[in-house]
Amino acid sequence: MSFLPSVFNYLDSHEEEFVSRLGEAVAIPSVSQEKAFRPQTVAIVEHFKALMEQQLSSSFSCRLHDLGTEDFPDGSKVGLPPVLLGELKAGESSEPKKTVCIYGHLDVQPALLSDGWSTEPFKLTEVDGKLFGRGSTDDKGPVLAWINCLQAFAKTETPLPVNLKFIFEAMEEAGSTGLHELVGSLKDTFLKDVDYFVISDSYWLSTTKPCLTYGLRGNAYFYVEVECAKKDLHSGVYGGAVHEAMVDLVALLATLTDATGQHILVPGLMDTVRPFTTEERHTLESLDFDEAAFCKEVGTSRLRFADKVNLLAHRWRYPALSIHGIQGAFHGSGAKTVIPQKVVAKFSIRLVPDQEPEEVTGKVVKYLEEQFSRLNSPNRLRVHRQKGSRPWVVDPATDGNFQAAKNAIKDVYGVEPDLIREGGSIPVTLTFQEVTGKSVLLLPIGAADDGAHSQNEKIDRKNYLNGGKLFAAYLHYISKL
Ligand code: BES
Ligand code: ZN
Repeated sequence: MSFLPSVFNYLDSHEEEFVSRLGEAVAIPSVSQEKAFRPQTVAIVEHFKALMEQQLSSSFSCRLHDLGTEDFPDGSKVGLPPVLLGELKAGESSEPKKTVCIYGHLDVQPALLSDGWSTEPFKLTEVDGKLFGRGSTDDKGPVLAWINCLQAFAKTETPLPVNLKFIFEAMEEAGSTGLHELVGSLKDTFLKDVDYFVISDSYWLSTTKPCLTYGLRGNAYFYVEVECAKKDLHSGVYGGAVHEAMVDLVALLATLTDATGQHILVPGLMDTVRPFTTEERHTLESLDFDEAAFCKEVGTSRLRFADKVNLLAHRWRYPALSIHGIQGAFHGSGAKTVIPQKVVAKFSIRLVPDQEPEEVTGKVVKYLEEQFSRLNSPNRLRVHRQKGSRPWVVDPATDGNFQAAKNAIKDVYGVEPDLIREGGSIPVTLTFQEVTGKSVLLLPIGAADDGAHSQNEKIDRKNYLNGGKLFAAYLHYISKL
């Protein structure tokens, strides 16, 4: 690279500091969906604030925005972690500078050693150049790669080519509670001058080739509760006499899809899915994707589709229904002969353009209620949806934000990136775009096999460290637009 030599040298010579920094962040179990971990979600935001104040230039300023409390379905109220809103000014110059807003999340999915991790999930452990730990790739590593990058500018006194804004939250994994309203309220103030948004919270399609992401699925997450008694019952005493909640619930779950799980049976659900075009098919055909490696990573002998086009289309551009668990069900080892009093199934539907969470919810609730009435059960049914996330897709071909990132990837990795969509959700992506009318780029640094949300989540040391370089090059190219 012919530009920013001192920034790149600094990044190369501070590897160990950056890796131990990731260890400190992973050590804070900032699990956003469990009430008991709320103090840690607050702690992680404060930790990042202190780190940025320490390592970035004196032009960095920030505040913690309080989001108040969250109401839980059981009627309780719990405090939300604050959002870090930061700013960093470009170096002195006579020309006006572009402003880039960086978003990232500091909360994580739950993780226990007993889930089957090979190492302690909240203790960063390096094995063969892979840094294992919950949040290593989703999303603490990528957020730290930004901080490493900006620290390099600060410490080498290299003028920053753009102005920066930061929005770091700790509720993303729970649907970004409170953030959408905050973003809306910042439209004419904090977000007024933003020209581009960038988010590093997705993954490459391969383990070696970088990519840019231009689409995400949305999500509608449902709780289906069936209650049959005022307490758990001995199955020997009451079995045969009682309409069991679990039987009703399993019957209901079985009506959601056909027996192969392939087709969602909720009437009208597919009506708003855009037709699959020939152009899309060609795009998918052109991508560098190893179906066999994907199948092996899953650990199955056969996926639903054997060919690349169908596999990718069903991961990215068709909806999918997943059943996540049943709360209240007996899941421990050993034989417990009990009829659970109340069980709550959790399932979600990944949404694609032009499905909307509200519209889908209406169809799902109506269908489940109808199916339940067919059971002719005296039990109590309650269907509840958690805050949804809308799907997002853009055309990267004409977008300067994507062009800058392409140039940066060519410089740092020497290849032209693949342009891909993703099946996961980042709830605030579309909110940024709709509130400001500005372009949002997803610039991943993690590899396809990082295993976000899974046991043994990791980020490769190389990806993490190159991430800082990629971000520096990206800012350089943004300033040239
Ligand atoms: N990093 C993921 C989003 C993601 C997943 C992007 C897979 C690309 C591929 C993000 O942190 C996440 O997991 N989001 C949640 C959001 C949900 C709770 C609305 C998700 O997708 O489950
Ligand atoms: Zn995640």
